[in-house]
Amino acid sequence: MSQGETSEAQIAVHWQEEDYFYPPRDFVAQANLTDESVYDRFSLDNFPNCFKEYADLLDWYEYWDEILDTSDAPCYKWFKGGKINASYNCVDRHLARNKNKTAIHFVPELEEEKVEHITYQELYVRVNEMAALLRDFAGLKRGDRVTLHMPMSAELPITMLACARLGVIHSQVFGGFSGNAAADRIEDSGSRVLITMDSYYRGGKLLDHKKKADEAVAKAAQDGQVVDKVLIWQRYPGKYSAQTPLVEGRDFLVNDELKNFYGARVEPERMNAEDPLFLMYTSGTTGKPKGCQHGTGGYLAYVTGTSKYVQDIHPEDVYWCMADIGWITGHSYIVYGPLALCASSVIYEGIPNYPDPGRPWRIAQNLDVNIFHTAPTAIRALRKIGPDEPAKYNYKFKHMTTVGEPIEPEVWKWYYNVVGKGQAAIVDTWWQTETGGFLCSTLPGISPMKPGSAGKGMPGIHPIILDDEGVELPRGAGKAGNICIQNPWPGMFQTIWGDRDRFVTNYFARYCKNPDSKDWRDWPYMTGDAAVEAPDGYYRILGRIDDVINVSGHRLGTKELESAALVVEEVAESAVVPVKDDIKGVTPDMYVALKPGFEASDELAQKVINALISEIGPIAKPRKVWIVPDMPKTRSGKIMRRVLASISNNTDVGDVMTLANPDVVETIRNQVQK
Ligand code: PRX
Repeated sequence: MSQGETSEAQIAVHWQEEDYFYPPRDFVAQANLTDESVYDRFSLDNFPNCFKEYADLLDWYEYWDEILDTSDAPCYKWFKGGKINASYNCVDRHLARNKNKTAIHFVPELEEEKVEHITYQELYVRVNEMAALLRDFAGLKRGDRVTLHMPMSAELPITMLACARLGVIHSQVFGGFSGNAAADRIEDSGSRVLITMDSYYRGGKLLDHKKKADEAVAKAAQDGQVVDKVLIWQRYPGKYSAQTPLVEGRDFLVNDELKNFYGARVEPERMNAEDPLFLMYTSGTTGKPKGCQHGTGGYLAYVTGTSKYVQDIHPEDVYWCMADIGWITGHSYIVYGPLALCASSVIYEGIPNYPDPGRPWRIAQNLDVNIFHTAPTAIRALRKIGPDEPAKYNYKFKHMTTVGEPIEPEVWKWYYNVVGKGQAAIVDTWWQTETGGFLCSTLPGISPMKPGSAGKGMPGIHPIILDDEGVELPRGAGKAGNICIQNPWPGMFQTIWGDRDRFVTNYFARYCKNPDSKDWRDWPYMTGDAAVEAPDGYYRILGRIDDVINVSGHRLGTKELESAALVVEEVAESAVVPVKDDIKGVTPDMYVALKPGFEASDELAQKVINALISEIGPIAKPRKVWIVPDMPKTRSGKIMRRVLASISNNTDVGDVMTLANPDVVETIRNQVQK
């Protein structure tokens, strides 16, 4: 981000140091990890061999020759020469001892509908049949990319695991995203098959989801990517429940086609450890989303190890992560990590407060969930609308997670005392789409918790805080700077799909010590977050330093939002700034200036909102669209987002006299702060 603009870190609340909370004794007694020597085993001196410990949690067809190949730094290859299949590790290997155990509990949003309990044996059957369909009907093979645009359903992990079985690279797009957003990802990944679902429930309404497939395919075709098959799962198998009709010759109902593959078995492909497993698109500083490419062996080892030691998953646990599988949290910590450990993983279709804010706790009670994982935005919302609900239900969590954005200590304490009833260990896991798994967290059986702080670097993850010049801040200095990771780790993304230059430029160029170096020590990974390290080595994450707004734990690029607003023909200029929000953490405020000859009106503001929803999805909805006479600009013509952010957040705009048009600041302030 350019100098002089306000980052989220700057508008973040400045918290006090908080007291420790110690993990409950009965948690520690059963924890997977209580041995503090783990930090020594994973010290930099033992890097990279320490990660063998995670890889050994998996079944390999063949072991690797080299644990870390840095010859193409910073594109690393982990466990090079190893052969492995992720679907085999999440499904087949559990059959011998646990085939009758529930792998997935699917909870429909409508409470009157039955919960589906899918055993590992059934998962095996369904993954195999789907893999056969993908191979023999859709013609997909190892290395092909396929876009999934599916809602929360059991069919989503089934489809992912079917892809993984064949070595097909899946790219799941968050179901709430628009058809247009899916199209960009279809085009970028070069997918000729789109897999979707006809409909799903959200807030009690059955949404027509298939209509987004039509938009996506049309837009992708305009952009030059032809989708020749759309595979449509049915929310109610055997009954098509979307209004939008099927397109002859292009659209096929999965539940019908599957009948031709009943009983089929597909031998898992022996993938190279470094072959890509999936792409996950995320927002960046420029408009175009980045396809983070995650590998097979390294990624799976990392999410399995962290699920075991940080999520503390044992085979007998019922684990519920309320995130959407369309985000990285769902990939790593609903599907791949938990299933590799033979957990029972809950998938909930709908929103947490449907039909009332007691719903999550009823689900927990009914399924006997004992590990719970969610984001501050959900915690804030449940605290606001149903502060007394958890006490009404009889469940016991041994472990809870908060992830995705900084959590205010007050909110943390409500989570601990009311949701966790003071009996659960909490981990605040800080990480990113790019990183595949956790970067900082407390180890729940070892470290005390500190509200608002993520904790130390994970075993084998060695953070440092650098200033703008690349000088390392003294350890534990309590000063804010750019948090970077000194070393590579197996879960980190391998590159940005099709754009190695962007990978290097975005994440490494700023602090790279020598661009020709093949030594990982020269390539610290820049996370793009600001953080402070306390004297006890705990990191508190302050927020993004770039033009990315974290809304409800989801990253939105300001450029993406701004260019979506420019789709409205009356709009000449747009600027987005983050505003503090009680529930969402931050929310975008959208400023637009119109082309000459157009008048501001409520209809026009609504048109901008509609454009954001159709270009990106309802998640991008701003708090407000402000139609302003002009944007505050520097003399060189740059929009001063910092000034707009101060106005939106009711903070001091500072000295604006050097602007090209200082008067407009007062006009905008009167308009916004009236
Ligand atoms: O700013 C950090 C924030 O979310 C960003 C990553 O977002 P995304 O790629 O969507 O991944 C979400 C799943 C981890 C980070 O750069 N963030 C994530 N977790 C935390 C957090 N901020 C504070 N505390 C966290 N625990």
